[in-house]
Amino acid sequence: MPFTESAPANGANIPLLGLGTWDIRGDVCTRIVRQAIALGYRHVDTAQAYENEREIGEGIRNSGLPREELHVTTKVWWTQLAPADLLRSTRESLARLKLEYVDLLLIHWPNSSVPLDQTIAALCKAKRDGMTKHIGVSNFTTALIDQAVQYSTEPIATNQIELHPYLDQSKVITACKANGISVTAYSPIVRGKAGDDPVLAKIGRAHRKSVAQVCLRFLAQQGIVAIPRTSKVERLTENSEIFDFELSPAEMLEIRGLAKPDGRMVNPSWAPKWDR
Ligand SMILES: NC(=O)c1ccc[n+]([C@@H]2O[C@H](COP(=O)([O-])OP(=O)(O)OC[C@H]3O[C@@H](n4cnc5c(N)ncnc54)[C@H](OP(=O)(O)O)[C@@H]3O)[C@@H](O)[C@H]2O)c1
Repeated sequence: MPFTESAPANGANIPLLGLGTWDIRGDVCTRIVRQAIALGYRHVDTAQAYENEREIGEGIRNSGLPREELHVTTKVWWTQLAPADLLRSTRESLARLKLEYVDLLLIHWPNSSVPLDQTIAALCKAKRDGMTKHIGVSNFTTALIDQAVQYSTEPIATNQIELHPYLDQSKVITACKANGISVTAYSPIVRGKAGDDPVLAKIGRAHRKSVAQVCLRFLAQQGIVAIPRTSKVERLTENSEIFDFELSPAEMLEIRGLAKPDGRMVNPSWAPKWDR
């Protein structure tokens, strides 16, 4: 069941493979969402900041899939974390998506100028009010995870973080696991920049798989959710064919060895102080 295999996530059932949609807009977005669902994808990741919630909703409706069979995640932008803003902007997200609820609502980035306990309380209220089935966070460090868990009256289902072979996130992953929180990997195929990596290419050749498939398998084998983005139909299929092979312990170790100190690609001015 490749598209419905899921990660333990504090009661949520997040499919291990989702479609990332950052920077995909307009008709291309509507089409790729519909095509992904037609191919079997059951998880779509969007955000207020991607300015494509309208098109995502249209793609979902065009697919004809019953709503309850799809997992939809959206994220509240970091300027909208005051309680009233979070609740209003979530209502606006639902209106754009034309959905009654999302499956997962995330704080997109922490914002130290808004007390986290207030933001978490609003997130919990969004869940109680039926706007989302589950709540979670994104770009949270170990210290922020501890605080979020302490403040939340609802289980935190996931922490969505940058994660791929070039970035060692073991500290955050350990903190998530300790709290039953699943990890969702963004930029899981290194934004397409690992194509000529000799180690990943060698491992790929051994399994007749591409570098992107090796990156995604590396995550899936650790029970980590991955949301690769593509705007190309042929890559939708490629990125989903990761459940029919297995990396050996030696290969997993070799891939872990590719992590480098400057492996982080997403580091905007509003990012928190990272664990490493
Ligand atoms: N929470 C956050 O702060 C945050 C931050 C960044 C991203 N995200 C989420 O995570 C998703 C994925 O991350 P990402 O978009 O940064 O990077 P990514 O998924 O690692 O890489 C996407 C890039 O790789 C290319 N690509 C896709 N499949 C490929 C394949 N099989 N072979 C070679 N190249 C391939 C895509 O180009 P084509 O479109 O031409 O295929 C695109 O340029 C985003 O779309 C978004 O939903 C979240």
